[in-house]
Amino acid sequence: MSETNYSEPHHPRPQWKSRTGFILAAIGSAVGLGNIWRFSYLCYKNGGGAFLIPYTIALLVVGIPLMILELGVGHKMRGSAPMSFAKVHPKWEWLGWWAVICAMYGIMLYYSVVIAWCVSYMFFSFNLSWGNDPNAFFYNEFLQLSQGPLDIGDMRTPILTALLSVWAMSWGIVFFGVQKGVERANKIFMPLLLILMIVLVGWSVSLEGAAQGIAVYLTPDFSKLGNLQIWIDAFSQIFFTLSLAFGIMIVYASYLPKKVDIVKDACIICFSNSAFSIFAGFSVFGTLGYMAHATQQPIDEVVTKSIGLAFVTYPQAISLIPTFSKVFGVVFFSSLVIAGLSSAISLIEAFSSAIVDKFHFKRSSVVSVVCLTGFLGSMIFSSKAGLYWVDIVDQFVTHYGLVIIALLECVAVGWVFQSQKLRKHIDSAGNTKLSPIWDSCIRFIIPAVLIILLLNDLKAEIAAPYEGYSRVATLMIGRDWLIFALIASLLIFLQPWKKELKTE
Ligand code: ALA
Repeated sequence: MSETNYSEPHHPRPQWKSRTGFILAAIGSAVGLGNIWRFSYLCYKNGGGAFLIPYTIALLVVGIPLMILELGVGHKMRGSAPMSFAKVHPKWEWLGWWAVICAMYGIMLYYSVVIAWCVSYMFFSFNLSWGNDPNAFFYNEFLQLSQGPLDIGDMRTPILTALLSVWAMSWGIVFFGVQKGVERANKIFMPLLLILMIVLVGWSVSLEGAAQGIAVYLTPDFSKLGNLQIWIDAFSQIFFTLSLAFGIMIVYASYLPKKVDIVKDACIICFSNSAFSIFAGFSVFGTLGYMAHATQQPIDEVVTKSIGLAFVTYPQAISLIPTFSKVFGVVFFSSLVIAGLSSAISLIEAFSSAIVDKFHFKRSSVVSVVCLTGFLGSMIFSSKAGLYWVDIVDQFVTHYGLVIIALLECVAVGWVFQSQKLRKHIDSAGNTKLSPIWDSCIRFIIPAVLIILLLNDLKAEIAAPYEGYSRVATLMIGRDWLIFALIASLLIFLQPWKKELKTE
């Protein structure tokens, strides 16, 4: 098979200043709202500690091998996801586009809105604006939630204002490039986030009744493991939390120098990310325990709708804290904002760098246009039906989009490119050698697991639309979102590369 070589863009490819800079940026991308907001509500929904078992299995069987694959591909091919897959095989370029479009115009659009909610709540914490009924405040006053996903209503100006600030901050960081923007921001964000989280966990576990919540978190209820949904949630959470199948890790690895220990770095990124989630879980469950104690309710009844955990249950718990409750609120929501921003910039970077690679436009202009279109696209999620849209797009992109993309990545690398060729490259770049078991994971085990999950997820969706939404809404908002992203990928794929060079 002949390999097509693509020229470097006008400017030489950017590089990380240091290994720490790269690792912090990759952890910054991985650690995000997914670790605090998403992980904790999935844990709560799936029986606390019971969720940790499929989560750990998913991390070991799929998370780490795929992280090695993505870092390896990006490092070998020295390109964003579309460029890297074009080098895997010219016919597979579209897969890279699908990944970065799903990340930028699927995930980032609603992700930025959830960060905007956190920004608003950070300010609400100063005077506990949610009052005595955080549930009514969140749904009726703040979101002014409409009757259903198709009843869109007006845009919510307070959310729109916060959203604008989120896009402006993200743009401000990515605009300055890999070293001066992304790397520098993460060097500040990550240590700050860790400090805030340590404060928060220390605080939460010392609340009265916290032990009861932590016991739920750490005691696995094995009977829950028979429910397939918990496995589906755990595997899709692993993709989301590790930023896999988004094209992010591929482009981040393309900025690495030639000599790098990919296996070791992949393990550091994956374990740090999961350690952060599990650590943050102590705060969430400690606070839930406190709330159960304060309201004299069983712990599994303190939250009515799990997606609202961060915006209903937390504010309620914050109001109940006798001293420094406002500071607690500000610390909690600032942690979410920082975690969210460090991931948001990676989502923008993955798409922007792909456009620069293919069309050689000026990076700063690309980043500006991407952020502007991103802001416009995310406006729909700040409408009165925004929460439904967040829920449906999140479900479809993570459960189907990311899983299908990851499956196809395994086919492209494992079978088309041949995983042993990539393994040899990874071995030659660093000191830690990759076991041939990794090839079996990529070629057989991960595809088999993902196909089983996908089929079961589809079966459940066909039997009853997700969360009881109308069929029309889930198809139009969820399925069609993925199809439009795929069509856009194919259209960009059909455009010629600005500079296509010799084939070997
Ligand atoms: N990996 C990012 C998160 O977990 C997207 O939030």
